[in-house]
Amino acid sequence: HTGSVCVVGSLNADLMVRTQRHPRPGETLTGGPLAIAPGGKSANQAVAAARLGADVRLVGAVGDDAHGHLLLESLTQDGVATDHIRQLPETPTGTAVITVSADGENTIVISPGANGELRPEDIPTSALADAGALGLTFEIPGDTVIAAAQRAHALGVPVFLNPSPFRIPEPDLLAATDVLVVNEHERLQVLEAFDTSAGASWEDRGSALRAVTGVPSLVVTLGARGAVVVESAAGNGGATDDATPTVTEVPGVEVHAVDTTGCGDAVLGALLATTSGGMPLVEATEVAMTVAAHAATAPGAQPSYPTTSELGLDSSSR
Ligand code: RIB
Ligand code: NA
Repeated sequence: HTGSVCVVGSLNADLMVRTQRHPRPGETLTGGPLAIAPGGKSANQAVAAARLGADVRLVGAVGDDAHGHLLLESLTQDGVATDHIRQLPETPTGTAVITVSADGENTIVISPGANGELRPEDIPTSALADAGALGLTFEIPGDTVIAAAQRAHALGVPVFLNPSPFRIPEPDLLAATDVLVVNEHERLQVLEAFDTSAGASWEDRGSALRAVTGVPSLVVTLGARGAVVVESAAGNGGATDDATPTVTEVPGVEVHAVDTTGCGDAVLGALLATTSGGMPLVEATEVAMTVAAHAATAPGAQPSYPTTSELGLDSSSR
């Protein structure tokens, strides 16, 4: 069962080229054919959630240009509500320039375009009010992210934050976040920023991450190795410091990775879709690992996201 999901954030046109390996600074390489596909971390989350059956709306901004039209059309085809996506007349649609090497690893440079113009006043309360989960990342202005998180938090809507492209989330943002989703690299940067040394066990690392951020639940993604879920009983704003969190290791699903672009967004989209329908976080993370593994087996981000039937998941098996 999935519920109702709101995502506030970015939409990009992904311009993707495969190369044998990544170029070194100053080097020119010849790659394969150019592929253009709808992307952007938030649009990716929205599409991943919609393909799992969630009722999804995306709040964002595109330009009134060919890429913008392409993105809106493809979201509509996936059943994502686009009524709260502004079309800006003078600003280009966000773009991501992506290279993918033969081993499936990517590098991404984004040009924010219209994403950089999304303001707090562009988020209607009606888009948040009845949502079962809100997804946020850092491809839009910081004050817009904080406004979305605080409004959702005040409405009792669980806030999921993936701080990517990485920077340390502001204390105000962490205080309004229910689930922080970071990869291993981001986890280490968070601990470093708070001047905390990581423990050797996941129990210690989870407690440290929980203590410095104050966020009640955390999911650390480990690529093909799976994820670690850290949960404490107290919600955000509750008595937190002495609470010992529960740490659960969720194994990865082994696949031959062709392109891992957008696998993190697939994880977040799957968490939004499943938890909004009432699924507990550990179980939701198990589903998310399956979704991300499937996504890694095909080129691109959105083009590789599975539907429930492709995963062999139906409501009776979940
Ligand atoms: O996470 C993958 C996404 O990052 C791509 O779709 C690209 O648009 C960038 O936002
Ligand atoms: Na993929």
